[in-house]
Amino acid sequence: MKQIAIVGAGTMGLGIAHIMAQYELKVSLIDLSEEILIESKKIISTNIDRQIRKGVIKDEQKKYILSNILFTKELKESVENADLIIEAVHENFELKKKIIRDLDSMCKGDVIISSNTSSLSISSLADKTLYPERIIGMHFMNPVPVMPLVEIVVGSTTSEKTIDQTKSLATKINKIPLVVKDSPGFVSNRILLPMINEAIETLSQGVADVYSIDQIMKLGMGHPMGPLRLADLIGLDVCLSVLKVLENGFGDKKYSPNQLLVRMVEKGNLGYKTKRGFYGYDKDVKNPYPIKFYI
Ligand SMILES: NC(=O)c1ccc[n+]([C@@H]2O[C@H](COP(=O)([O-])OP(=O)(O)OC[C@H]3O[C@@H](n4cnc5c(N)ncnc54)[C@H](O)[C@@H]3O)[C@@H](O)[C@H]2O)c1
Repeated sequence: MKQIAIVGAGTMGLGIAHIMAQYELKVSLIDLSEEILIESKKIISTNIDRQIRKGVIKDEQKKYILSNILFTKELKESVENADLIIEAVHENFELKKKIIRDLDSMCKGDVIISSNTSSLSISSLADKTLYPERIIGMHFMNPVPVMPLVEIVVGSTTSEKTIDQTKSLATKINKIPLVVKDSPGFVSNRILLPMINEAIETLSQGVADVYSIDQIMKLGMGHPMGPLRLADLIGLDVCLSVLKVLENGFGDKKYSPNQLLVRMVEKGNLGYKTKRGFYGYDKDVKNPYPIKFYI
């Protein structure tokens, strides 16, 4: 595989583009507006600078990585010759389904179409497409350039060839692919999101504040980041969507999203990407301050 198209240049799409370009693949990164694409390029550039400071890559690689990425609004011409397409738009079933169906008829027959969905059914996304055997889940972790895992999600119609090619691409970009069955939240989010929801419930009940909850999980359980800070990093809208998928998929109220989470999303406080969630990021992005919740 040489030519990659990524649909959606948000948090995940730009991270996936960055890592693909770093490993010598040509990438088209597609989004709806110039403003979003300019912002994405800025963020990738900052993230490359961080890698240079940490000694992960050399100074001179920056230009090369950026030159491997075409930032574009043109979907059709970007996907026509792609070997792999990764959709990384919002976690919304109807939107993803429409994009995958459109792509299915736009690109060549042997392309692999993958979804970076955090929780939605790959089998349902593949349903009624022209070539359901080429549709697969590639669930990258955030931040993509740093996290080694790609959860490879196999739908009911995904072919062995698609699985093998996807795994070898993941290995080429220095990730570790682990194959899981198509089930709500897969493995990662089925286990992670109930923990985040419980942390929010604990906060809502006034058991402890944001700082203490996160520190307890860091210092006591060895987690590199507390669950509330992690929720901010993932995006509270994404957390809410995944919990709804788990609740509906398993028909079990134990996954019901906490009401504080619902209210925060309604207010547009989505975490790091909006500069406010369980922490405020408006003063110093690297040292966000915990928000005081009056329960
Ligand atoms: N944020 C995380 O930590 C995380 C981790 C793993 C997987 N995911 C999954 O990755 C996907 C993307 O999440 P995100 O956090 O990057 O979202 P995001 O909101 O940061 O970005 C989504 C992008 O998709 C673009 N988009 C929407 N419709 C489009 C269209 N028709 N054509 C082109 N672009 C379009 C939007 O303009 C936006 O820039 C979701 O499915 C999410 O569940 C997220």
